[in-house]
Amino acid sequence: MKVEGKIVLVTGGAHGIGRALAERFHAEGARGVAVADLDGEAAAKVAEGIDGLAVTADVSREAEIRRAVAETEERLGPVDLLCSNAGIGYSDAPGWTATSQSNEQWEKIWRVNVMAHVWGARAVLPGMIARGGGWLLHTSSAAGLLSQIGDASYSTTKHAAIGFAESVAITHGDQGIGVSVLCPQAVDTAMLAAAVGVTAGEAAKIDGVLEPAEVAAAVVRGLEAESFLILPHPEVSEYMRRKAADVDRWLAGMRRFRRSMFPDDEMMDLG
Ligand SMILES: NC(=O)c1ccc[n+]([C@@H]2O[C@H](COP(=O)([O-])OP(=O)(O)OC[C@H]3O[C@@H](n4cnc5c(N)ncnc54)[C@H](O)[C@@H]3O)[C@@H](O)[C@H]2O)c1
Repeated sequence: MKVEGKIVLVTGGAHGIGRALAERFHAEGARGVAVADLDGEAAAKVAEGIDGLAVTADVSREAEIRRAVAETEERLGPVDLLCSNAGIGYSDAPGWTATSQSNEQWEKIWRVNVMAHVWGARAVLPGMIARGGGWLLHTSSAAGLLSQIGDASYSTTKHAAIGFAESVAITHGDQGIGVSVLCPQAVDTAMLAAAVGVTAGEAAKIDGVLEPAEVAAAVVRGLEAESFLILPHPEVSEYMRRKAADVDRWLAGMRRFRRSMFPDDEMMDLG
């Protein structure tokens, strides 16, 4: 699918990857771009730069997603491409076990990283199907195909997001609905900077870290190719192949990698 001439809504569009997507879609000739974000002030700045529409919305609430879609459709026109991109991450700190995050954190991340995709799809699919087609871009992560060490709830929710996208593709593909899942490894945004303890902009110096604009370019290529999986880091497909070929061997390799990251971890003594 080509973005030119389309109405696009990007959640989490005020910063990072979402901002780069909104700006790139505008540059590609989108007819209108809506930037929805919890940070309304920053969303307004991004929208101003691309002659778009800013919507303040918390995607952890279904009613706010419905309102963002309704506002976009009223002001710009029917949504052709919905990018459910807003996401959050928590590490397993300080306990560093797979269950050490609180129930509140698990529930919050589940709503933002998974349910927001379900609610976005629920809001736009009936109109898209009635009009004969539309596209959903769901931002997951390489952590949704592989796993991110030390981030159990992030890895779990990103896997679930891919599961939901597969269900949409299978259930609604014959009704003209296309779905792509964006699965990058590290990208230089505030989320990564917080995770690795540097300021945004500095993470780019780490090997393999992409700029948000490079991810947006990969998205445009992936949408044009109508690919389900969009992998801005091409090595991820090789990692997936190795995992699928021998999951037990892959898990042993991940445990080795974890031991190298947490050499003093007392949990290591357990096994
Ligand atoms: N940065 C990376 O290395 C990386 C890698 C893989 C996947 N991702 C995914 O990319 C997506 C974008 O992340 P980013 O790296 O650009 O992070 P970011 O923190 O720079 O941007 C996230 C944006 O989402 C918004 N947001 C957060 N919670 C929200 C909510 N409840 N409602 C509305 N908006 C909300 C934030 O205000 C922010 O503008 C996320 O889904 C993330 O998991 C990021």
